[in-house]
Amino acid sequence: MKYNIRKANLSDVKAIAKVHIAVWKTTYQSIIPQDFLDNLSTKRSENNWRKTINNKDFINFIIEDENSKIVGFISGGANREKELLPEYDGELMAIYIFKEYQQKGLGSKLFTTFKQELLKRNFTNMVIWVLRDNNSKYFYEKMGGQFLKEKEYHIGSGNQIGVTYGWKNIKSKEKKCLIIKKENKNGKFQN
Ligand SMILES: CC(C)(COP(=O)(O)OP(=O)(O)OC[C@H]1O[C@@H](n2cnc3c(N)ncnc32)[C@H](O)[C@@H]1OP(=O)(O)O)[C@@H](O)C(=O)NCCC(=O)NCCS
Repeated sequence: MKYNIRKANLSDVKAIAKVHIAVWKTTYQSIIPQDFLDNLSTKRSENNWRKTINNKDFINFIIEDENSKIVGFISGGANREKELLPEYDGELMAIYIFKEYQQKGLGSKLFTTFKQELLKRNFTNMVIWVLRDNNSKYFYEKMGGQFLKEKEYHIGSGNQIGVTYGWKNIKSKEKKCLIIKKENKNGKFQN
């Protein structure tokens, strides 16, 4: 299966919200209170994505399969926590891939594309916030992120610890950030 990455547009809003909500449910089960996950609103998510895609300050890419099915997305822009992390200008705000498409190299592809777009827009570095209990933090470590700080989040009826990772120089070519060219037999992309 071949995958294509392209900039998101308004006609993708429904598909992006669908990925976002589905992946929240599979990722945060037993991390975030279940009643919060059960009450995630498709309409609210679609409205948020409409605003984000309409705002040219944000960077939004989707990844789709050969049948144009959107299976993941990445989004970000300027660092929202300048007071806490003043030395960082860019932020990766969200990267979500349907569970059945994870661990095939698609996240790395999206990550590389996102970094390249940040560079085009004259950002020099970036951060990402992730819940400490979310194993996806290991993905960021593989991508070369350095642990920076922790902070507390209130989500639904529970408190969560968030951790932030930083990339001091997004121009540097970590091993994982080379352009990925081909798939191997297992459907996994190879550098
Ligand atoms: C995090 C995510 C985007 C990574 O995308 P992906 O396509 O699964 O990642 P890749 O296949 O490109 O993996 C790249 C490397 O990271 C590792 N990795 C990815 N997810 C991992 C995890 N949960 N735990 C440990 N390692 C992980 C892979 O094993 C791979 O390492 P390798 O090259 O040594 O084999 C994806 O798993 C996802 O959507 N997760 C759920 C949503 C989420 O938590 N998003 C982040 C919110 S802040």
